[in-house]
Amino acid sequence: MNLITNRAKGTQDVLPKDSFKRSFVEKLLFDIAKTYGFGQIRTPVFEHTELFNKSVGDTTDVVQKEMYTFKDKGDRSITLRPEGTTPVVRAMLENGLHNNALPIKLSYLMSCYRYENPQAGRYREFNQFGAEIFGSEDPAADAELIFMVHDMFNRLGIKGLTLEINSIGCPKCKEKYYLKLQEYLESKKADLCPNCVDRLSRTPMRVLDCKSPICAGITKDAPVILDFLCKECSDHFEQVKSYLSQMQVLFKINPRIVRGLDYYTKTVFEFISTEIGAQGALGGGGRYDGLVKMIGGVDMPAIGVGLGVERIMLILEKQQIPLLEPEKCTIYIAGLGYEAREMALKLACIARQYSINAQCDIVGRGLKAQMKFADKIEAAFSIVIGE
Ligand code: HAM
Repeated sequence: MNLITNRAKGTQDVLPKDSFKRSFVEKLLFDIAKTYGFGQIRTPVFEHTELFNKSVGDTTDVVQKEMYTFKDKGDRSITLRPEGTTPVVRAMLENGLHNNALPIKLSYLMSCYRYENPQAGRYREFNQFGAEIFGSEDPAADAELIFMVHDMFNRLGIKGLTLEINSIGCPKCKEKYYLKLQEYLESKKADLCPNCVDRLSRTPMRVLDCKSPICAGITKDAPVILDFLCKECSDHFEQVKSYLSQMQVLFKINPRIVRGLDYYTKTVFEFISTEIGAQGALGGGGRYDGLVKMIGGVDMPAIGVGLGVERIMLILEKQQIPLLEPEKCTIYIAGLGYEAREMALKLACIARQYSINAQCDIVGRGLKAQMKFADKIEAAFSIVIGE
């Protein structure tokens, strides 16, 4: 492979024929989020590695296998962000946003990096549109966030998605559940894949997420977390479901959603498509009531979501959803002779001040070639200046 002319594995170039669609989608998502009260936040592409180890969890695939981690020239361990929530929590705390009136609502669009096996919808560099709500443990926050995502997909015209929800409880529920799950899995240990044997003692719920058909067969009859929720978590989940039903959001309860990151508590959810291949999760998120405290010592419940921009583009393509084409050239100003070409450039620049898409010759073509070019770029009007 030519290392100079080929892009790195798992990365994508977005060309003008597609980039306008991305911009349209990204703007729509931000515009919708704005109406729900979200301000935009931007954070650096890289953070101290320790931040992700602690928050995402050191037994997760993301931390164990997928992070782009390297030493910088000052011998610090640096990691390209594999996801958006943790950097946003860090930035919120570092900049004191948590002292503002609650809830704090932050949205973002960021590139993320995971060393995964690339396939359709799964890349090593990908973009997430995310939204995080800090400072509310009320089920209304869960419902509002989920409804916003539902609203976003609707307004993009995407059809046929399934919203799957689950509650994975609080640390107390997990503790009880882990014991039962471990007991069940221990009895099948001989057949589990080596990865799952490894997970068994520390994060047994991750076994439920294993893609090996043997492990999936074993966990089919495993106990489910919903049967182990404490009263508070169970009531919380009931209220989330009731809100969603009131708002006429269809959902399916999937007690096997565990999510790939360790920080989740209570409500977790995913929006799934069956039309874009194996990587069908267009977005996912959930509550993470313990993360802010874990990172910065401030007790603050939170919930958020991350949407995969590339996967959204895939489904828009698949469902042939037309997006507003960018404005083509409104006026082509052709010039015959040097003076006229000078005038053409000046006029084009003036037209642009009035937001008119105006083009003129900057290549040095003759008049005939200029007219041909105007045709190619589908100019709505042309003017010719010259003697
Ligand atoms: P996540 O489920 O790991 O959650 O990622 C969110 C979305 O990003 C996925 O549903 C998928 O659409 C997209 N995605 C993930 N990995 C890739 C990949 N390798 N290539 C392309 N797209 C991908 C999070 O990252 C959480 N931070 C979401 C969240 C926000 N939870 C609470 N707040």
